Amino acid sequence: MINLAIELIEEQSAERVLSFGASCFPVEIKGEKYFLKRNCNGAKLTSVHNYISGLRLHDLLKITGIKDIAGRTRKEVSTMSSWRDFGLPVPRIVAHDNNNILYKFVESSGLSGVLNEGPYSPDLFDDFLGLYNRIRVLAYEENDPDLLHSDPHLENFLVSSDGIMPIDPGVVLRSDLGLPDLDAKLNLYLCYSLFRSFSDAIKRDKYMTSFLENLSDSDVGNMTKVNERVDFSSFKKLYWGVRNVAILPFSGKNAVSLDDAVLPYSEKTYQTIEGALGRRLKS
Ligand SMILES: Nc1ncnc2c1ncn2[C@@H]1O[C@H](COP(=O)(O)OP(=O)(O)O)[C@@H](O)[C@H]1O
Ligand SMILES: [Mg+2]
Repeated sequence: MINLAIELIEEQSAERVLSFGASCFPVEIKGEKYFLKRNCNGAKLTSVHNYISGLRLHDLLKITGIKDIAGRTRKEVSTMSSWRDFGLPVPRIVAHDNNNILYKFVESSGLSGVLNEGPYSPDLFDDFLGLYNRIRVLAYEENDPDLLHSDPHLENFLVSSDGIMPIDPGVVLRSDLGLPDLDAKLNLYLCYSLFRSFSDAIKRDKYMTSFLENLSDSDVGNMTKVNERVDFSSFKKLYWGVRNVAILPFSGKNAVSLDDAVLPYSEKTYQTIEGALGRRLKS
């Protein structure tokens, strides 16, 4: 099935690929729609995507374990399958090998787009928070850090007719960090990714406040401690990395704005988040 899907998508145009992110392809087999996710080396766009996505923040927070492709694929398959077994709504995996996962296609939109483009939607955001917490509670009940969402940002939650679905838990978390530490770091990571997800500052502050209110005092306290230890001196490296990988090679039409790519993880963002965490703890 995987090989057939690969053959079919190799006939498709690059533009189709771009519109679906780095390495993902919708594909139709015998009248059924599927979604092929390829974790291949050599796709330049993958590294660009990684640079501008939250993965750099993973590095700043030092939570990523092994980075090899087979490891990431195995991790995604295993977490998605466990979530499914525990009754979470997730896209069904049809087949996989070391580098590829074939999913059933889900008619959906990314939560980030829906919340950004639509009106302020507290109910939808509450649904998301409910799902996010359900995942965390499950990880604690089972005492299994691999059940946490290891890459929690709004693009990794799909809004479908079956409700919100979590996807893309392929980041391999460091096994030497315990569940509470990983949980605090991932909550902080989500906080930063919420910050970068919204162009409208008013909406962003409302969603951010509601996210923090939904967490317990001790969760927010732990995030504050982690935030205090984030080493933002590595920002210079990040700045040059983004410039070299995402800006210069694409100075034409696919170039990313340096501000868009780097600002979310700047000292200014850090201070904003520090302020939000502080206000939440005082309230
Ligand atoms: N099963 C699916 N059906 C339809 N679209 C999907 C499916 N899985 C992912 N997508 C879309 O593809 C995008 C990228 O998928 P994702 O697993 O997040 O890969 P990446 O590691 O490149 O971020 C998602 O944001 C979503 O819009
Ligand atoms: Mg993703």
